[in-house]
Amino acid sequence: MKELKDYSLLHHNTFGMNVYTAYFVEYDSVDELCAFLKQKSYVLPLLHIGGGSNLLFSGDFKGTILHSAIKGAEIVSETDETVDVRVGAGEIWDDFVAYTVQHNWYGAVNLSLIPGEVGASAVQNIGAYGVEAKDLIIAVDTVCVATGEPRRFSNEECGYAYRKSIFKQELKGKYVVTHVTYRLHKQPVWHLDYGNVRAELEKEACPLTLENLRRIIIRIRKEKLPDPAKIGNAGSFFMNPVIPQKQFDALRATYPDIPSYPAGEGWVKVPAGWMIDRCGWKGKALGRAGVHDRQALVLVNLGGATGQEVMQLASAVVTSVKDKFGIDIYPEVNYI
Ligand code: EPU
Repeated sequence: MKELKDYSLLHHNTFGMNVYTAYFVEYDSVDELCAFLKQKSYVLPLLHIGGGSNLLFSGDFKGTILHSAIKGAEIVSETDETVDVRVGAGEIWDDFVAYTVQHNWYGAVNLSLIPGEVGASAVQNIGAYGVEAKDLIIAVDTVCVATGEPRRFSNEECGYAYRKSIFKQELKGKYVVTHVTYRLHKQPVWHLDYGNVRAELEKEACPLTLENLRRIIIRIRKEKLPDPAKIGNAGSFFMNPVIPQKQFDALRATYPDIPSYPAGEGWVKVPAGWMIDRCGWKGKALGRAGVHDRQALVLVNLGGATGQEVMQLASAVVTSVKDKFGIDIYPEVNYI
């Protein structure tokens, strides 16, 4: 176990903010985590982070930041059709996706190159190109913060919805994810109908294999999304709002080219990136915080931005979208 004082979080947040935490604790096993939580002598507030790819710090953190270094992936169950793999929360998410592709297991490939760690995949219900983590997760192992006792959640108990889970809502801060069990398929299961995925595959005229699909997904992401190692950002800054069909029909009368995704009977999901783009924000900046020039849903640190500057830009963007489209958009990024 690593316990550090006055520790810089520069390498623990992809926005690239050089903020400090009073205490930083990194544990290697469930036993260490349980013991740490049971002794209760840590400095509050307690915040558990993953890869820091969805966090925006407004300043230094006065409490204790916990980070998992629980690693490893093991097959816990297998049939002719499926394989269940239990993965440590501290594994890098994309390493796990690469591992599934190497083993020729289907289900995770559309989630290639999403930054962050395995634990966060279960909290955030990460998603891309028509697949969400919830489609693969069968169980989430956690430890209760209050008691230090382990508890397993089934997929149903996790209350998954678009970018949501019980761990982000009702039970926020109450359980720490230690392992996630995913079910992968041995027979082909493809999701090719989102955006330009199929078109890109056809353009290359390459055979449909997991390796090729992974390569194409990675290329699409790299074309649109800035690399946090080069320019600080946290991926999509906002969630795509879900609005009633009637409201959408009225909008489409004014903006015939408005894109949309079905979101259940009577509801439509509208890309916030498209609306922000239409408000003229793409490539614009407020101070040292900017709107990415290739994907308006992404806010970037142009160099030395503070959390406050990014938050000011975010609220200006929210106001513009509300004024032009009458729609409220909400951050996907967690403000700390
Ligand atoms: N669009 C614009 N201008 C922009 C950005 C987007 O017109 O500046 C349009 C696009 O042309 C497209 C539509 O908006 O018609 C949707 O864009 P895109 O396919 O890039 O996806 P998104 O809705 O902006 C979501 C996820 C991403 C995920 C992609 C692909 C959310 C909040 N974001 O973005 O997730 O990679 O779909 O599945 O749901 C993330 O969560 O950090 C993330 C990157």
